[in-house]
Amino acid sequence: MAAGGAKILIGMKGPDVGDATIGLKVARYRPEHGPSLYFDDYQVPYREDMVVLDALNYIKDNIDGSVTYRWSCRMGVCGSCGMMVNYVPRLTCSTFLREFYPRPVVVEPLENFPVIRDLVVDMDDFLEKLRELKPWIVRDHDSPISSGEYLQTPEEVDRYQQFSMCINCMLCYAACPVYAKDPKFYGPAALALAHRYNLDSRDQGRDERLEAVSVDWGVWDCTFVGECSVVCPKDVDPAAAIQRSKVAATTKTMMSMVWPFGVERTAEDEREA
Ligand code: SF4
Ligand code: FES
Repeated sequence: MAAGGAKILIGMKGPDVGDATIGLKVARYRPEHGPSLYFDDYQVPYREDMVVLDALNYIKDNIDGSVTYRWSCRMGVCGSCGMMVNYVPRLTCSTFLREFYPRPVVVEPLENFPVIRDLVVDMDDFLEKLRELKPWIVRDHDSPISSGEYLQTPEEVDRYQQFSMCINCMLCYAACPVYAKDPKFYGPAALALAHRYNLDSRDQGRDERLEAVSVDWGVWDCTFVGECSVVCPKDVDPAAAIQRSKVAATTKTMMSMVWPFGVERTAEDEREA
């Protein structure tokens, strides 16, 4: 251990690892030791093909087993490895160290979420919001199993596919200034998922969802900063989904004034909106 608490790795030379190292400044939060977040410094071997998650795994396996963080798939699919990397929300399994080398890399828990331990945040708030927006197929009546699957044309799938790519990584919430100020805001991913099901030809829950997203802390809270779409690793474009939901909610209100006894709208109408 070096002065100032820095932990220095000496060596690890071999055919695959050169002499180069890179510094990682890792945020630590140990609730049993007090409420403050602090940083530990580590030096890890540097290779061009290493991602930030590799560096964290190196630290955990070789230097300090107490560093706590989430990861699973290591291929940008599970959404569990989101952290602030040099102050930007990123998936650590697809952020290469070479973007930063030779500068050090600062790794912190995702902004705007309570921290449970070190780099692990509490996402329960998002799960509660999802429950309210019903991002699943809602049917008035389910068809009997004997009638087979609900079939869709490729065009019908195309309408919502982009919005179905969400991996619940929460990078968009970490980047959202509205969520930072108003945690009640449903936020980008939950609203994008609601929009995804509104576009699905098998779904009949659109009216219910449009009502749910029209509350003060729903789509109208979004000021269209657009950072959610910038940081999204899956090109879901939640900012666009929210703006389209605003149009759909407004159209629904206008239609209900013109046809107060109701008018049937379809996913096709939503797409047009
Ligand atoms: S919308 Fe994008 S950034 Fe937000 S949770 Fe889904 S995949 Fe992650
Ligand atoms: S480990 Fe699964 S997305 Fe990064």
